[in-house]
Amino acid sequence: MCSSLKNQTLQGDKVMRFTKGLAFDDVLLVPQYSDIKSRKEVDIGNHLDSEIDLSLPILSAPMDKVTEGAMANAMAEMGGLGIIHRYNTIEEQLEIVKKVTGVRACAIPATGDFLERAVELVDNGDVRVLCVDIAHAHHIHMKNALTMLKNHFGDNVHLMAGNIATLQAFNDLADWGADSIKVGIGGGSICSTRILTGHGMPTLQSVYECSKSDRSAVLIADGGIKTSGDMVKALAFGADLVMVGSLLSGSVQSPGDIHYNASGEPYKQYRGMASKEAQQDWRGKSASIEGVAHYVPFKGCVKNILRDLDNGIRSGLSYSGARSINELQATMKVIEQTSAGQFESSTHIKSK
Ligand code: IMP
Repeated sequence: MCSSLKNQTLQGDKVMRFTKGLAFDDVLLVPQYSDIKSRKEVDIGNHLDSEIDLSLPILSAPMDKVTEGAMANAMAEMGGLGIIHRYNTIEEQLEIVKKVTGVRACAIPATGDFLERAVELVDNGDVRVLCVDIAHAHHIHMKNALTMLKNHFGDNVHLMAGNIATLQAFNDLADWGADSIKVGIGGGSICSTRILTGHGMPTLQSVYECSKSDRSAVLIADGGIKTSGDMVKALAFGADLVMVGSLLSGSVQSPGDIHYNASGEPYKQYRGMASKEAQQDWRGKSASIEGVAHYVPFKGCVKNILRDLDNGIRSGLSYSGARSINELQATMKVIEQTSAGQFESSTHIKSK
């Protein structure tokens, strides 16, 4: 221990406190008595606000290899919501939005042309949900952007904002005008924020801490969700909805060409929006690279992926004897897993 830190600890006036941060794989929900006879009895829907109900509590991430028109339409058809990415000109984003048939969903930045973009999308694209989407949202840029957007649109537009990791940040964003808040810093499958900056928090831990908020903003768990099981854990720990990127990448509806490897197997690109490749494409240069680009196997129609996730979440709730997300949050019991438990939880025949 360096001497200055040792002194601080010994003095006791600035004691270092370490909080353990639980990640999805650290916990399991304990199965409970259930009288649910069919998955159809389980309602996994939730509200984004008093006017927008989602029958599937899943949002697709505003990333250039995840959500444009085709994904947004498929999400809407399956009961979820797609958030159109912002890595384009206002005109290009407007063109994409106009093809969306359900609730129009759009990301905007917190600086630069954000207000002009927002006005154009709402006035000429009939956009109902604006997502102010930045890497570190507990920030003065977010405060200014939300204040200006709220002043301009009042309650006529739903303001989603993120990403943040702490209860203080959740409360501040809610007070600045956010109607829903994306929770999770550094957990995304394509994210290198924690490696580059040393900052972040396991998404499940952030969700749990933010769920203690007394503000009414909707909590969206975002980053690192790999399975329907992770979704059930996020919902049980207090999320109202979940957002995913990698799970929906590589599908027919995700933007981008299909490539073939030497064995003739199809794949598509999925990349972090702060990756070198994405930054080069959308702003012609790269700096502060906090993401990676990756190729994922082609997965076919996203509706099949969403159907499987829907079924998985329903089964998850029934294991807790819960007929709704509210019931799950009220009744859930949780245990921490050891590393042996984590191994046993995997399909470990593959490890033999
Ligand atoms: P995934 O579902 O684990 O793939 O995570 C998707 C989430 O990662 C998005 O919704 C964003 O919050 C986040 N994200 C997107 N691009 C980047 C990046 O380049 N660096 C860090 N996080 C990112």
